[in-house]
Amino acid sequence: MTAPTAVAAPPALELNDLEVAYRVRGIWRPVLRGVSFTVADGESYGLVGESGCGKSTAAYAVVRYLPRNGRVSSGSITIAGEDLLAMSEAGVRKMRTQRVSMVYQNPGGALNPTIRVGDQVAETYTIAGVADGEAHERAQEMLRKVQISDPARVMQRYPHQLSGGMQQRVVIAMALAKDPTLLILDEPTTGLDPAVRLALWARIRDLRAAGTTVLLTTHYMDEAQRLCDRVAIVATGKVIAQGAPTALIRSHLAREAVEFDCATDEEAALIDGTAPPHRLRSGRRLICYLDDASALVERLKADDPEDRRALIVRPANLEDVFLRIAGSTLEGGA
Ligand SMILES: Nc1ncnc2c1ncn2[C@@H]1O[C@H](COP(=O)(O)OP(=O)(O)OP(=O)(O)O)[C@@H](O)[C@H]1O
Ligand SMILES: [Mg+2]
Repeated sequence: MTAPTAVAAPPALELNDLEVAYRVRGIWRPVLRGVSFTVADGESYGLVGESGCGKSTAAYAVVRYLPRNGRVSSGSITIAGEDLLAMSEAGVRKMRTQRVSMVYQNPGGALNPTIRVGDQVAETYTIAGVADGEAHERAQEMLRKVQISDPARVMQRYPHQLSGGMQQRVVIAMALAKDPTLLILDEPTTGLDPAVRLALWARIRDLRAAGTTVLLTTHYMDEAQRLCDRVAIVATGKVIAQGAPTALIRSHLAREAVEFDCATDEEAALIDGTAPPHRLRSGRRLICYLDDASALVERLKADDPEDRRALIVRPANLEDVFLRIAGSTLEGGA
């Protein structure tokens, strides 16, 4: 008898050469062009890129919820090994109620204006079979977890009586209430106050620790860097780079960044002998990327004994990588 071989679990999500187009004035316009990525079970994966690059479109495609004028023109989407595009309508509905939750970019639109907030959050639990009274208690608990400090009062309100940031938290609470295995967050913290943003990041990290697979879209590179194991940088509907944030920083730039103001004609003399492999200029601002910034910092300080040139020395980050590869005025080697 042969020993049973362990069968690896299929990835939580896999997009393969996905093409999505929108029909505008009778013409199909491609928006996602050959997008491929795989999200492992329990992984937190980010889609980052500029406004209009196709992040939300990818997220909508994954829950098979493209607008009426949108269609997948080719490629495939697999969720936990199941072919999403071949799934029946009933199968898709079941998947959305039991396994995959999405928090849409426009939170207001996801709430029913005629139903009190508490009843809407509680309904997520009653659909899953929880008794009414307990559903309300659990709704209250979940609202508290997303930093709503007075959930009992908020539950009595109608959506239009809440601020945008508060609506966003309610929608996130509803998505979390389903205890999904795959949670899709489309720009979850846009428009939120810094403290609330921080608290939501903590919740997302908790989910990740608990094994939930997360697909996060954001145009905040710092958010993706903090929350995601891996990211795909998307530009005009194509993935132009993907990997762990630190690996992307290492392969496209260098460990440290030194920022300072200098005129273009001063630049060569100022950095002479320090050979930063990459530089980015925006107006008078120059950013030099190096694995070890100390020689450049010394050089700049020696040139400026009265300490008039303010320097910022910091670790290079994902935003730097984005600027480097998504088209910029970056100069230098590589
Ligand atoms: N329903 C639609 N009909 C036609 N074009 C659309 C539709 N929705 C989006 N688009 C276009 O598709 C492209 C991708 O849009 P999408 O909303 O996916 O971008 P995004 O990366 O999510 O942007 P943002 O950061 O602003 O949310 C854009 O050019 C957008 O104008
Ligand atoms: Mg979007």
